[in-house]
Amino acid sequence: MIDLISTIRNAHEKGTSLKRCLMDLRQKYGGISESMMVAVKEVYHCTDDELAEITRWFPKLKSGPLSAHELTVCEPCWKSHPELMERLKEIQKRCGDEVLQITPSGCLGACGVGPNALLDGQLYSQLDHNRPFWDRLESFIQK
Ligand code: FES
Repeated sequence: MIDLISTIRNAHEKGTSLKRCLMDLRQKYGGISESMMVAVKEVYHCTDDELAEITRWFPKLKSGPLSAHELTVCEPCWKSHPELMERLKEIQKRCGDEVLQITPSGCLGACGVGPNALLDGQLYSQLDHNRPFWDRLESFIQK
């Protein structure tokens, strides 16, 4: 399982700048979620103001609030499971953009246990059998 904090810690220990770390996370996961921001802030020991100064040029953060939940989907994994993508699209449609944002990405580095996705920074695997994942997604649907 990918540990987001470990990834960020490794970057910090290698001397990667905060800005570079955020850019790398954005490229790898397709966006910067709230949970990523919290993790980066903790590892880099930066203030909200310092983080805001660095991220103000991120188009996604400038244009409005993030969705309440962010799902990063590994496209290579999901290609062979079109039925899962249909199910996901239906849930996203019922949730709305303000609740659930779906971002495609490249390999998440856990191919052996795919199909995979990151939900709010947490890796979920074997999504063709992962009931807790689908239950969590369905809990986002407004009643
Ligand atoms: S191809 Fe999906 S995690 Fe590698």
